[in-house]
Amino acid sequence: MIDKSRGLAVDALFLDLEDACAPAMKAPGRKNIVRALNEGGFEGKTRVVRVNDWTSPWTYRDVIDVVEGAGPNVDCLMLPKVQSSGHIVALDLLLTQLETSLGLPVGQIGIEAQIENARGLLSLESIAAASDRLETLILGPADFMASIQMKTLTVGDQPPGYEGGDAYHHILMSILMVARACDLQAIDGPYLAIKNLEGLRRASSRSAALGFDGKWVLHPDQIETVNEIFSPRQGDYDHAENILDAYDWFRSADGGSRGAAMLGDEMIDEASRKMALVVSAKGRLAGLRRSAVWQPPAA
Ligand code: GLV
Ligand code: MG
Repeated sequence: MIDKSRGLAVDALFLDLEDACAPAMKAPGRKNIVRALNEGGFEGKTRVVRVNDWTSPWTYRDVIDVVEGAGPNVDCLMLPKVQSSGHIVALDLLLTQLETSLGLPVGQIGIEAQIENARGLLSLESIAAASDRLETLILGPADFMASIQMKTLTVGDQPPGYEGGDAYHHILMSILMVARACDLQAIDGPYLAIKNLEGLRRASSRSAALGFDGKWVLHPDQIETVNEIFSPRQGDYDHAENILDAYDWFRSADGGSRGAAMLGDEMIDEASRKMALVVSAKGRLAGLRRSAVWQPPAA
């Protein structure tokens, strides 16, 4: 499984010591993870290990074994079921001691926080501010649904009886707001029905449309759909680059030194430029090239 993951078209991958690792397998799991990370082959991917949460008996040993065994090859630790800033501070302090004693740059290993219950959601602001190591907030929908007693067993789909609304909207938006306010990534968690690509598409489109940066996949068959939905579309990328060019021109003396102008049927102004900057940056990062370039009107 780990071998296969090396060749997958994903931006990040996490090796799990939490829910996908049975209690009796925690100790061997740590050894396997250390071995795999040190063997390498994950170039271009963020290497993450999910440790167990602080209410379990395993967290400290997970962190110590993984960082002592493979510290230079770990980009981030993922901490599940984060409920308070104290959970992040505790991990930060342990990582600082480990990095110091191992001669690693302090702060090298980042933290990804999974928000998986009501307490975590209500403490988001203090969680997000708890450590400079924090890079990412992640919704853990399965645990979240369980914790608030949502009436369904189908993770990521609307609970029966709640047709017409989006039962996840408040949770997703709260995570997104705090992530954006604190300059963190916002990531949506898993869609468990692996064969149901239509359901995956629906769930992914929902968080992608709000502005989330990505979504977990649990199986290689889910990768194409999620990559497609979270990647900028060619048409949107061209449109964004054209807004930037046109707005620059309209603001110049040649374009009439205007603060607002019409680009085709749409009015563009400083706020449009900011929106276009987001889409163009994502497109450039994804390696898109312009296929339709706006030209100023002939003089
Ligand atoms: C993931 O950890 C989830 O609980 O959905
Ligand atoms: Mg979970």
